[in-house]
Amino acid sequence: MFVAVSMDLQLIYNYKYIFVIMVVLNMLYFIFDGSSFNGIDKVQLDSSPFRENKKYIIDTPGCRIENLNPYSEEIKEYIYTIKKITCRNKGLLTYISRFKDKVILNLNMSLLPEYSIFHVDCCYSVISRNPTGSKPDDNISFSDCIPFHDTVHIKHDFIRVECSNFFQKVYVNVHSTLQPPKEVATNAADPNVLLIGIDGVSRSNLIRSMPRTYQFCERNRWINLKGYNKIADNTYPNLMAVLSGMNFSQAESVCDPYDKVALDNCQHFIWREFKRHNYSTAYAEDTSRIGTFNWIKAGFTNPPTDYYFRPYFLAAEDLSIKYLCLRAHCTGPEKTGIRMQNLIKDFVSTIRNATPGFGLFWMNSFSHEDVNCPSSLDDDFVDFFEEMERGGEFNNTIVIFFSDHGFRFGKIRLTHTGWMEERLPFIYIRIPESFRLKHLEAYSNLVSNSDKLTTPYDIHMTLQHILSLSNKNYVESPSQGCPQCKSLFKPIESSRTCGTSGIPQPYCTCSRYENLSKKTPLVREVANFFISHINNLVKSYGEASKGCSVYFLDKISHAKSLVIEKNVEENVLVGVVANPDAIFEANVKVIYNSNATKTFTLMETNRLDRYAPKTFCVQNSPVQMYCYCKSLLKRITNEKGHRTLN
Ligand SMILES: *[C@@H]1O[C@H](CO)[C@@H](O)[C@H](O)[C@H]1NC(C)=O
Ligand SMILES: *[C@@H]1O[C@H](CO)[C@@H](O)[C@H](O)[C@H]1NC(C)=O
Ligand SMILES: *[C@@H]1O[C@H](CO)[C@@H](O)[C@H](O)[C@H]1NC(C)=O
Ligand SMILES: *[C@@H]1O[C@H](CO)[C@@H](O)[C@H](O)[C@H]1NC(C)=O
Ligand SMILES: *[C@@H]1O[C@H](CO)[C@@H](O)[C@H](O)[C@H]1NC(C)=O
Ligand SMILES: *[C@@H]1O[C@H](CO)[C@@H](O)[C@H](O)[C@H]1NC(C)=O
Ligand SMILES: *[C@@H]1O[C@H](CO)[C@@H](O)[C@H](O)[C@H]1NC(C)=O
Ligand SMILES: [Zn+2]
Repeated sequence: MFVAVSMDLQLIYNYKYIFVIMVVLNMLYFIFDGSSFNGIDKVQLDSSPFRENKKYIIDTPGCRIENLNPYSEEIKEYIYTIKKITCRNKGLLTYISRFKDKVILNLNMSLLPEYSIFHVDCCYSVISRNPTGSKPDDNISFSDCIPFHDTVHIKHDFIRVECSNFFQKVYVNVHSTLQPPKEVATNAADPNVLLIGIDGVSRSNLIRSMPRTYQFCERNRWINLKGYNKIADNTYPNLMAVLSGMNFSQAESVCDPYDKVALDNCQHFIWREFKRHNYSTAYAEDTSRIGTFNWIKAGFTNPPTDYYFRPYFLAAEDLSIKYLCLRAHCTGPEKTGIRMQNLIKDFVSTIRNATPGFGLFWMNSFSHEDVNCPSSLDDDFVDFFEEMERGGEFNNTIVIFFSDHGFRFGKIRLTHTGWMEERLPFIYIRIPESFRLKHLEAYSNLVSNSDKLTTPYDIHMTLQHILSLSNKNYVESPSQGCPQCKSLFKPIESSRTCGTSGIPQPYCTCSRYENLSKKTPLVREVANFFISHINNLVKSYGEASKGCSVYFLDKISHAKSLVIEKNVEENVLVGVVANPDAIFEANVKVIYNSNATKTFTLMETNRLDRYAPKTFCVQNSPVQMYCYCKSLLKRITNEKGHRTLN
């Protein structure tokens, strides 16, 4: 008997709750300007990993990238330590173990007295996806709760456990069981490939906020691509470039993320190729609400990979939550980031004797909302990676430990350093000894490519190359978004530029923008053009944007220029503070016409303030990125006792 509980209602309820918290925290954030409120102290910065004598971190004929100082004066005021929080003060009452091919749920009897002085009864319910309704990827249900004593054999993928005494629930948790895969014919030497991602962390920010993890990677000679440049603004297109080799518009046309049928049928996901090679495939992402394929997107009707952990995180995020940096840091008794690490560990060990594995494990829960928050998982990552290395779990595993872009909003983004960091996500690649010895040349190419300009498309080609190295019949297909991009195991030419590697000009860190005075008439013209563009754009959404306010230009926060050809063509980057409260940044191409007029073309738009709490009047529409809800304006002005604006 299954009792269908619609996740949707619960999510809406949670969402309101999250919203209130976000508004409050957001106010604190701005009142204190992110520098010193409860739990946050200024830190003494250790600047040792920064090689100050180098002017450029990448210095090739095709591209020079400035050697950014992670501790630059310009951003010091935005850097602070985050006080860690603990998710529980007792041991976990339940855990999963394996006996041969059986998965067992166990109760740790010795812990019972800590949980209750009275008798405790436990039961588990099975968590299932409900692919039939209108929200297949958001809808999970729980079976009736089945009582068990100390141990029980579990055949389902995800379960929720509840333990109660006569008076109350004393323990609730969810577990992912990772049932073993069927054995298939594979080449025993095929390496596992794990993509382990932390959203929104630049190379500089890894050094700054996860110094121990950074040192671990360096010490273990994981290879750092120092010129890894994003190819688009946010998560979806950058990850899609890795997974499919396509750019945003190509992906949209053949694998439309707004159409669940198209996403389900999308043949371009690299995990499909790994599956064809008898790999077991996995995809997990925490903070389900903002999932790469779910945030204002359709999600999947059917699981895209053999192991698909979305129901697990939906259920975990429905437990009691402790927030840190605006995100569900603790989901029930466990840290969300550690749940992810455990999935990786279990995935590798479950499949070990049956098939090689390909997995994407993506984390937002401790990095997405605060540039300093990755520090809250720094020690955990070192412990996790050390355990994997020591236990031999990574013996035959290629790990790509990376991010999609740097931190994208807040005051740090208004600085030059913040602008550069946003474009330069961190990436480390771990090559196992066995693979290195077998492919010495490939390895040495990778090492020399680590000092060149590289992109997510190169990672896509590298993944294909891994398949073709173990299977002679596999034919690599060029990346559609960047036909010239190539596997990092092949030599990349030093003449490579942003133009030849699929990086649109607004994201290119090889370009040298010059400061432009905010008072320049051109800057004001561009800013006005931009504001009216945003207003028109918002209006064009019609009904969907009827709650959104019109903007006026308040002030210009920064301006830079890249002259392509003097008095002919120029790119102008301008940051504008709008009224009501929103910060946008534009990259505008300026063409000087022969009749003394100018033509402006908008190449990129960014919103730099934390806009989610200001856009509640928009439901599931991309206009959210441009909106400021009028009703919020009314509320704020009323509270201040001012005249109501409209
Ligand atoms: C059960 O709990 C005890 C007490 O905290 C702990 O020492 C032990 O490691 C736990 N057992 C398992 C198998 O987790
Ligand atoms: C969730 O799944 C249940 C059971 O299959 C179904 O009755 C319900 O309509 C679904 N809800 C949504 C919003 O899809
Ligand atoms: C995958 O496994 C099947 C069944 O064991 C086998 O027939 C097939 O050749 C394997 N494919 C590859 C690419 O190894
Ligand atoms: C994607 O690539 C195609 C073909 O090169 C190009 O026409 C298109 O503008 C690109 N789209 C984006 C968003 O870069
Ligand atoms: C990993 O490799 C080491 C050294 O070759 C070996 O001793 C160990 O048993 C391997 N571990 C696993 C889990 O394969
Ligand atoms: C540009 O302006 C920023 C901020 O005002 C300053 O830190 C930087 O040094 C300037 N760069 C140049 C090349 O003048
Ligand atoms: C000036 O030239 C541009 C481009 O050639 C054209 O679009 C524009 O209408 C012209 N403006 C005037 C006032 O002639
Ligand atoms: Zn992202």
